[in-house]
Amino acid sequence: MTAQSLSRNAAVRLVAPSEEALAALPALLAAAFGPGRFAKTSERVRENGARLDLGLSRVALDGTRVVGCCLVSHVMVGEDQALFLGPLAVHPHAQKAGIGAALVTASLQAAQRVGADAVILVGAPSFFEPLGFSAAPKGLISLPGPVDPARLLWTGLSPKGIKGLSGMVSGFRDASPP
Ligand SMILES: CC(C)(COP(=O)(O)OP(=O)(O)OC[C@H]1O[C@@H](n2cnc3c(N)ncnc32)[C@H](O)[C@@H]1OP(=O)(O)O)[C@@H](O)C(=O)NCCC(=O)NCCS
Repeated sequence: MTAQSLSRNAAVRLVAPSEEALAALPALLAAAFGPGRFAKTSERVRENGARLDLGLSRVALDGTRVVGCCLVSHVMVGEDQALFLGPLAVHPHAQKAGIGAALVTASLQAAQRVGADAVILVGAPSFFEPLGFSAAPKGLISLPGPVDPARLLWTGLSPKGIKGLSGMVSGFRDASPP
């Protein structure tokens, strides 16, 4: 969490999710997104072999209560490995206090520490642009379902970053031979 948001949320801690925190996520996601969530193309990405990384994901804890989450998964974009961010959710009672932005920042910092190159997501440009994301050029990246190209965002974390990233987003494949 950044110093600025910490001052607004002194009681909230951002940590990698425990088993207990993971168990609380369905209720949090239902409260934040409502029933439309499972129709989203991002859900198809997560169902189709994206590999959740608990070391890069973060939950926001208010005491022991999970009030936010930012999940990060490994995917392929064409033949390149990348990270897929989401779902990002903050409980309606805890929104607009800097927790969502702090969760994304914490996950990006963790991803940069482990040498990740690029992160993609589907989300609101007005929320994610201040956090370093921009719209991927139209047609460069495809998802397993419809998506508004203006909401398909990416950011680079390394010198390679988003360079050359294109193709279909699909399940994660390890680079090493079986
Ligand atoms: C989107 C969401 C995670 C934001 O969490 P939050 O804790 O309220 O966000 P923050 O308080 O950190 O907001 C950071 C900035 O983004 C702005 N913002 C918040 N929600 C926004 C939204 N939905 N769209 C655009 N901007 C938004 C805030 O006004 C704030 O701007 P400021 O720094 O100029 O004041 C939260 O509203 C949520 O869970 N929504 C429902 C689920 C959802 O839409 N998830 C995102 C899918 S990609």
